[in-house]
Amino acid sequence: MIIIMSSKLFLLFENIALFSVIFLQLKPTIADSNNIIIRCIDEEREALLTFKQSLVDEHGVLSSWGREDDKRDCCKWRGVYCSNTTGHVKVLNLRTSDYDFARRKFLKGTISPALLKLHDLGHLDLSNNDFGGSPVPEFIGSLSKLRYLSLSCGGPLELPRKFRNDSRLEYLNLENSCLFSVGSLKWLSRLSSLRHLDLSYCALPPVNPSFIWHFNLSTSIETLDLSDNNLPSSSVYPWLFNLSRNILYLNLGSNSLRGSIPEAFQHMVSLKSLYLCDSELEGGIPKFFGNMCSLKELGLSDNKLSGQFSQAIQNLSCGCVVNSLEVLYLHDNDFTRPVPLLGGFSSLEELQVDVNRLNGTIDKSLNQLSKLESLSLDGNSFTGVISETFFSNMSNLQELVLADNSFTLKLSHNWVPPFQLKWLSLASCKMGPHFPKWLQTQNQLVHLDISNVGISDTIPDWFWDLSSKLSYLNLSNNHIKGKLPDLSLRFDGTRIGGTSIDINSNHFEGSIPPLPSNSPFLNLSKNKFSGSVTFLCSINVNTWNFLDLSSNLLSGGLPDCWLHFDSLFVLNLTNNRFSGKIPDSMGFLNNIRTLNLHKNRLTGELPSSLRNCSQLRVLDLGKNAFFGSENEYKSTLGLVRCLDLSSNKLDGPIPEEIMDLVGLIAVNLSRNNLTGPITPKIGELTSLDFLDLSRNLFSGSIPSSLSQLSGLGVLDLSYNNSSGKIPLGTQLQSFNASVYAGNLELCGLPLANMCPDEESTPSPGTDDDSDTLEDEDDQFITLGFYVSSILGFFVGFWGVCGYLMLNRSWSYGYFNFLTGMKDWVYVISAVNIAKLQRKFRN
Ligand SMILES: *[C@@H]1O[C@H](CO)[C@@H](O)[C@H](O)[C@H]1NC(C)=O
Ligand SMILES: *[C@@H]1O[C@H](CO)[C@@H](O)[C@H](O)[C@H]1NC(C)=O
Ligand SMILES: *[C@@H]1O[C@H](CO)[C@@H](O)[C@H](O)[C@H]1NC(C)=O
Ligand SMILES: *[C@@H]1O[C@H](CO)[C@@H](O)[C@H](O)[C@H]1NC(C)=O
Ligand SMILES: *[C@@H]1O[C@H](CO)[C@@H](O)[C@H](O)[C@H]1NC(C)=O
Ligand SMILES: *[C@@H]1O[C@H](CO)[C@@H](O)[C@H](O)[C@H]1NC(C)=O
Ligand SMILES: *[C@@H]1O[C@H](CO)[C@@H](O)[C@H](O)[C@H]1NC(C)=O
Ligand SMILES: *[C@@H]1O[C@H](CO)[C@@H](O)[C@H](O)[C@H]1NC(C)=O
Ligand SMILES: *[C@@H]1O[C@H](CO)[C@@H](O)[C@H](O)[C@H]1NC(C)=O
Ligand SMILES: *[C@@H]1O[C@H](CO)[C@@H](O)[C@H](O)[C@H]1NC(C)=O
Ligand SMILES: *[C@@H]1O[C@H](CO)[C@@H](O)[C@H](O)[C@H]1NC(C)=O
Ligand SMILES: *[C@@H]1O[C@H](CO)[C@@H](O)[C@H](O)[C@H]1NC(C)=O
Repeated sequence: MIIIMSSKLFLLFENIALFSVIFLQLKPTIADSNNIIIRCIDEEREALLTFKQSLVDEHGVLSSWGREDDKRDCCKWRGVYCSNTTGHVKVLNLRTSDYDFARRKFLKGTISPALLKLHDLGHLDLSNNDFGGSPVPEFIGSLSKLRYLSLSCGGPLELPRKFRNDSRLEYLNLENSCLFSVGSLKWLSRLSSLRHLDLSYCALPPVNPSFIWHFNLSTSIETLDLSDNNLPSSSVYPWLFNLSRNILYLNLGSNSLRGSIPEAFQHMVSLKSLYLCDSELEGGIPKFFGNMCSLKELGLSDNKLSGQFSQAIQNLSCGCVVNSLEVLYLHDNDFTRPVPLLGGFSSLEELQVDVNRLNGTIDKSLNQLSKLESLSLDGNSFTGVISETFFSNMSNLQELVLADNSFTLKLSHNWVPPFQLKWLSLASCKMGPHFPKWLQTQNQLVHLDISNVGISDTIPDWFWDLSSKLSYLNLSNNHIKGKLPDLSLRFDGTRIGGTSIDINSNHFEGSIPPLPSNSPFLNLSKNKFSGSVTFLCSINVNTWNFLDLSSNLLSGGLPDCWLHFDSLFVLNLTNNRFSGKIPDSMGFLNNIRTLNLHKNRLTGELPSSLRNCSQLRVLDLGKNAFFGSENEYKSTLGLVRCLDLSSNKLDGPIPEEIMDLVGLIAVNLSRNNLTGPITPKIGELTSLDFLDLSRNLFSGSIPSSLSQLSGLGVLDLSYNNSSGKIPLGTQLQSFNASVYAGNLELCGLPLANMCPDEESTPSPGTDDDSDTLEDEDDQFITLGFYVSSILGFFVGFWGVCGYLMLNRSWSYGYFNFLTGMKDWVYVISAVNIAKLQRKFRN
């Protein structure tokens, strides 16, 4: 029997109440004959296909959408849901998951008005796609049955100016859409059914509040999220406090709210959740919160709230909220002791008082909080012993964070905790020397941090059975001994996001076992691992970002199989015994930012393939045995194109070694305290296009060699103590006078003040460099002289800064690239710059 239901035929069935029964009865026969029931309405299929045409679908998200026989039923397409009775499309959900979004697997293009043909569309979710800032077509405001609209995305959006005045829209999510480049939000007034409005991360303009905020929000609004908009109190409060009293959920987090928490919140009597985190609120927790009997969630973290903690909690416990409150976030405020009694908050499920200034012993009454699911006390100065009885009522606990206090954990070997934790962080609690056996009962763990807790044991075998669910494991800074098993087998190599593993600073030994291929972060440094790292060649596809094997006893050649490691940002092999050459295949590290091979026994020359590492910012090859005269590696140093050390508080003269970087195109040393004359060797940097030495303490005359740099396009010598006549030559006179401003004793064109004596003599110190060179060398040997480099050519130079260490007195070419860059998130540049400053000062 063949049943092909066209949409029209389908409609005939619409009123047959027994249709579903008939359907079920026919089904086996249908399956046999390999034919399909098509519910999809032709016109809507075509509309959807037109919609698809205006999209760019690089990742085949819509591959199930088509006209082919096996695809004809649009109700079976990905993201399309039809009414079971009418066959009309009711839901179109093409939201890209956050995971895919992060990997740029989303739809692009424009939103076609063909969607208007979907008369019954009630739910439209196009979140996390990229419509390239193109306007959302006006028609979206005309979809009369639309109740749910979510367009949150990573890019700008321009919304329709008009919504039907009878719009039934209840849910509007424009999160992260940066959408209000033009227009006001007046149209929101017309959405009289609106219950949920998410405008978080929308870059709402903070100025001229009346412009944007002059609208009436529906009285039915229940959920309002305006977080992450940088709104000042003056823009949001007046409008907000005239808002519906029916509001249940309000998130104003990550704005610029100042002053104390306004009393006006007390009139929002229906509030269940109030989040005011991450602003600049001051003062205490006002008493009125105590009387907000509906309040279940109160988030006040990351503000400047202060006062005695006991008083703040007292303010809350004086009223009915003590019975209703389930979530209390007070992370990172300035609350001080004494620690109050919290045991009375009988409904409390989440308590975060981490990163405050609380000290003394922990409040024992906490053990009455039997509903507690999450407890974070980390980053205070709590002391004292925590024993099993503290946890005996906490059978619901899933997250426990006690890290970075001075707690001592006394938990017996055979303790069976009443809880099953997912998240456990006990960093810096005292709990050694044995490996905690009670962990064996915790087989739901996703996050485990028992770093720096004084364990000097070996890891028991059962531990690795817990590991398959872990996304984070930190065992660092203990004295853990023994060998590691094959970790690629112990962790789930297919888990999205993988597992970050930090076991640095222990006494692990033996060879490094195969590691999970999906770990974003692997730090095995400061252990006693030995042998070669050939295991790397057995790894094919991997998603490693950070691999740190530094300060071990690893030896042998560097493996020549880096083809599959193109997701690596940081590779740190510092302080081992690796020998031989740097292999060519390191050129395949397309995304590498930091390559640290410092202090090994590497020889030979840098392979030219390293030029392919176009993202490389820090290359540290110091303390190796690279052969070759200075001339040989000068050609490599010639690859350093740009040097930006501006605003670093550097003092002393410009290191001569910079002048060896013959390939330099741009040098920015501005805003430091550099002294002495500007070296005439600057004229040797014949490729120089950009030179900024402004706002330093340079003295003496401007070297005439500067005028030989014919390619110099940008020069700034302003605000120094330079003196004498600006050397003649078309080059230096062609710049604007402002280039030399703020050098009081400078004279000659293009400045207005003429020199008193046309025969200005060069000031001392410009010509006798050769005499002091050796001294300076020594000086730089001890000072350290750092350069980070970028290999290969790159355009915008502002991001790169660094130094070069070059020790002329050593017989083999010894050089040392180090330090960090300002623009680069993965390096704690502040630390490195600080080091640099110290070196310069000494
Ligand atoms: C419609 O059908 C789908 C799949 O056959 C089913 O999951 C859903 O519950 C049905 N909806 C209604 C309202 O019957
Ligand atoms: C909605 O718009 C229609 C047509 O423009 C108009 O006739 C009607 O009065 C409006 N209703 C409201 C409540 O504004
Ligand atoms: C808001 O509502 C008030 C009173 O209902 C009305 O007077 C005012 O014009 C409305 N404002 C806007 C922008 O619609
Ligand atoms: C809010 O309401 C008060 C009176 O309740 C009024 O004085 C004030 O102007 C209103 N603010 C706005 C922005 O509408
Ligand atoms: C307690 O409440 C009062 C009155 O609202 C307030 O002024 C004070 O700052 C609060 N104290 C603390 C420590 O939160
Ligand atoms: C807690 O810190 C305060 C200062 O903030 C200090 O006076 C007090 O002695 C400390 N108490 C304990 C028990 O460490
Ligand atoms: C558990 O909580 C109850 C009150 O809810 C309390 O009486 C009891 O002492 C608590 N148990 C422990 C071991 O503290
Ligand atoms: C592991 O713990 C140590 C010490 O607590 C900490 O410094 C380090 O940042 C942690 N590692 C990671 C990857 O978070
Ligand atoms: C690994 O740990 C060491 C401390 O032993 C630290 O210096 C290093 O920065 C860590 N590596 C990475 C990539 O974070
Ligand atoms: C590389 O390892 C060394 C030695 O352990 C450490 O000092 C340095 O911070 C590490 N660099 C990075 C970028 O992790
Ligand atoms: C480096 O790039 C060049 C030219 O793009 C290419 O021929 C070569 O194979 C690359 N080498 C490596 C190791 O990536
Ligand atoms: C230069 O030195 C002076 C005096 O030591 C200091 O006040 C100033 O902050 C320094 N400027 C820079 C840019 O380092």
